[in-house]
Amino acid sequence: MLPKALTALLIPLLDFFLDKAEQHPSYEEQLKPSLQFELRHEHAVSPSAHVVFSDAPAARTAFQASYALRATNITSYKPPSLGAFSNARTRSMRDSQSVHLQWEEQEILGPDVESRETLLELAKMTNNAYVARDDPAWYELNEQWIKHYPVGWEPDADGFRGYVFATPDNSTIVLSIKGTSSAIFSGGGPTAKKDKLNDNLLFSCCCARIDWTWTTVCGCYRGGWKCDQNCLEDALIEDSLFYPIGTNLYNNLTYMYPTSNIWIIGHSLGGALSSLLGVTFGVPVVAFESPGEKTASRRLHLPAPPSTQHITHVYHTADPIAMGTCNGILSSCALGGYALETRCHLGKSIVYDTVSNLSWSVDIRTHGIVNVIENILKEPWQPSLEVGREVPPAEAEQECVECYGWEFGDFPP
Ligand SMILES: *[C@@H]1O[C@H](CO)[C@@H](O)[C@H](O)[C@H]1NC(C)=O
Ligand SMILES: *[C@@H]1O[C@H](CO)[C@@H](O)[C@H](O)[C@H]1NC(C)=O
Ligand SMILES: *[C@@H]1O[C@H](CO)[C@@H](O)[C@H](O)[C@H]1NC(C)=O
Ligand SMILES: *[C@@H]1O[C@H](CO)[C@@H](O)[C@H](O)[C@H]1NC(C)=O
Repeated sequence: MLPKALTALLIPLLDFFLDKAEQHPSYEEQLKPSLQFELRHEHAVSPSAHVVFSDAPAARTAFQASYALRATNITSYKPPSLGAFSNARTRSMRDSQSVHLQWEEQEILGPDVESRETLLELAKMTNNAYVARDDPAWYELNEQWIKHYPVGWEPDADGFRGYVFATPDNSTIVLSIKGTSSAIFSGGGPTAKKDKLNDNLLFSCCCARIDWTWTTVCGCYRGGWKCDQNCLEDALIEDSLFYPIGTNLYNNLTYMYPTSNIWIIGHSLGGALSSLLGVTFGVPVVAFESPGEKTASRRLHLPAPPSTQHITHVYHTADPIAMGTCNGILSSCALGGYALETRCHLGKSIVYDTVSNLSWSVDIRTHGIVNVIENILKEPWQPSLEVGREVPPAEAEQECVECYGWEFGDFPP
């Protein structure tokens, strides 16, 4: 303990330095409410594809930092009902009919994506999702947790995992969904195999046909650069639990918190799933380093709302997965058994140009969320500061082209 007199002297000094280092938020910024979140549950998908939740033990929550997020009003579109949404989706899948949905415009509280601190906290909340229960990175692990872990947490369980954070009054809930691919590139975690199939179905141009040496994940390739669209969509509907697992998870969460405002966040593939859920349920989404999911949403026949501006992507230009440049037979993605070729994102994108501004080279190792936290979000972003902003502007991707050269259509075998 410092003597009282000394502390009294130090505190104003500290304040002085802090004032210098950090610019005061503008008056307008100060008006935005700040919400405090704590870890409430963990979620996992058991091998039988059932979603399970477990309460975060109090002892563990006590160690857990709480997260302060700035909130702001945003506009989103909600389908009139889930029944209407899935009916429209089924008609589109089965009969190629486009059904007009009466989307409801709503003003809701969402995370303030113009605030660097908020993006940083959200990134941290998705980061924890990578750590398995027995990983030493969970330094606050205790006996109680080990005894109580539920089904779905077995090391060989595949699928999605993540966390549920809540404000003390449960008014706002953040659902964080674990991404996958980064584990694969660094040696492969337990969920690698199942994830790889899903990734390749949804985020490659045509069944992950990279060249003739590859075993494709579906049989829709028709020679040359032709790909049978119907075949592709059927393969997705039959084989991919990717989307239905997400909707189950969301439904289970709203069953527990029927009146709460829900936000969804995720990294990598978890970010892509978050976005698809944001389209389905009209809730705010922040996705980090997600591969392009625009094509996936079309292939899954998700009815398109009038606007997807409530979905925000955050990524940087040296990440080949988010940029859709991890393709080609010699790419690190192909070497890892991945065909992540799509690059167009829904909603708005906040793009950090790490290639120009930090002279980074394009490298799969920059994809990880820890890199984003430590090397991009943690410090003020100089190019933005220079123009009086905290983060790069969130903008819709204009004229995005992907799967260039492929021809999709009706090409029966
Ligand atoms: C919860 O998820 C399961 C699948 O894991 C689903 O069968 C069930 O209907 C969901 N419950 C609710 C209330 O949505
Ligand atoms: C945000 O929206 C709510 C209702 O949707 C409204 O009561 C509140 O005044 C709005 N806040 C701001 C800052 O616009
Ligand atoms: C919030 O939800 C939890 C369940 O996760 C419940 O135990 C708690 O009582 C709720 N708190 C309030 C203030 O409603
Ligand atoms: C950052 O990159 C952008 C191009 O993306 C460029 O216009 C700007 O001048 C760069 N700023 C700095 C500080 O390097």
